[in-house]
Amino acid sequence: MKALLLENIHPLAVQILEGRGFEVELRAGSLSEDELVETLPGVDLLGIRSNTHLTERVLDAATDLQAVGCFCIGTNQVDLAAAAARGLAVFNAPFSNTRSVVELVIGEIIALARRLHEKSGKMHAGVWDKSAKGSHEIRGRTLGIVGYGNIGTQLSNLAESMGMRVIFFDTADRLAHGNAQRMKTLDDLLEQADVVTLHVDGRPGNAGFFGPEQFARMKPRSLFINAARGMVVDNESLREHILSGHIAGAALDVFPIEPKAQGDPFESPLRGLDNVILTPHVGGSTQEAQEEIGFFVANKLAGFALEGRTELSVDLPAVMAPQLQSGHRLGYLHVNVPGVLASVNQLIAESGSNVTGQYLATSGEQGYVVTDTSDPVPESAIKALADSEHTLWVRTWSV
Ligand SMILES: NC(=O)c1ccc[n+]([C@@H]2O[C@H](COP(=O)([O-])OP(=O)(O)OC[C@H]3O[C@@H](n4cnc5c(N)ncnc54)[C@H](O)[C@@H]3O)[C@@H](O)[C@H]2O)c1
Repeated sequence: MKALLLENIHPLAVQILEGRGFEVELRAGSLSEDELVETLPGVDLLGIRSNTHLTERVLDAATDLQAVGCFCIGTNQVDLAAAAARGLAVFNAPFSNTRSVVELVIGEIIALARRLHEKSGKMHAGVWDKSAKGSHEIRGRTLGIVGYGNIGTQLSNLAESMGMRVIFFDTADRLAHGNAQRMKTLDDLLEQADVVTLHVDGRPGNAGFFGPEQFARMKPRSLFINAARGMVVDNESLREHILSGHIAGAALDVFPIEPKAQGDPFESPLRGLDNVILTPHVGGSTQEAQEEIGFFVANKLAGFALEGRTELSVDLPAVMAPQLQSGHRLGYLHVNVPGVLASVNQLIAESGSNVTGQYLATSGEQGYVVTDTSDPVPESAIKALADSEHTLWVRTWSV
């Protein structure tokens, strides 16, 4: 089976996939829709990061594809409904780079409060600007975290340990960590925070949710950070508020339009502004995180392709089948209608195979059942399942 890994995925992923018998092709950049349509036939497993967009058209062309590994946290670059409808498993690494993003944000809070970026730039230009004007400690300052999930909560803990007061706003019910205080509304947070940092997810409803009204609500001379998703912020409006002096500084790691490949030109209304730190979507890009993500997602892809395991799949029913140590396994993804499990078991019983384990899950319109047997299930039974109108796919593995 062939695995294609795009966007500079960590070599550990290659090592793991090759070690499990896959032929691996690596490419540094992402591919456009047309390039994907041309390249994907013949590819069984695809590894991407956030710049490769898998549309319905791409998935239709990917006739051999079984699974997609997003070597990152977000998965909204993939049409998940279309992937599920085609029985493709999609995996991601929901926790592997949380700490890296948090550490970048902590660094940025201090860098912005001390105007480090600006001062360093002047020094490189040969200007000695020794002054305390506009420089502040972060101790005692209020950090407003918007989106209190994996990253937001860990940031909350570290920021408190540095003496900041933490307030947060989340649309879901979230447990407050330490002394952090939940705000009832986003406006309440914006009116109190000295630093506002966004850590919301990439759901479509969040597109453009932070714009002129929200910047205007922020405290005069407050700081703004976005290391979540580029599309959530109106950067033209941020530019205006920085130029007017209302916002004293900002750090942006994500952008509505990001260059596709290393070295491609970067355009943004925020280029060239004082006390604005721009980084090329590197919040989660540390050696530690990349290695952890490479390990995590490569194992998920191999576990699915070689053993039918779907645990932590973001689109298919998640079946926690144990590692297949010996014997035979049949995986059956089907439309979730009554009676399917009974018909699978009847076919296996008729074949005379002894069932040694069975694991199943349903999610939405799909059901997935993994059955381990002592003897291989006969071809005739597999064909009968494959021919059923309810079948998405049926696969077998043997050790
Ligand atoms: N810069 C990077 O390199 C990098 C790396 C990793 C993750 N990220 C991004 O960071 C973000 C957060 O990641 P996470 O793992 O903490 O996600 P998460 O899913 O654990 O947390 C997101 C939280 O945001 C909340 N939320 C969603 N919309 C909201 C809204 N409009 N207002 C308030 N709360 C809202 C959700 O309820 C959830 O609690 C994601 O967008 C992710 O893509 C960026």
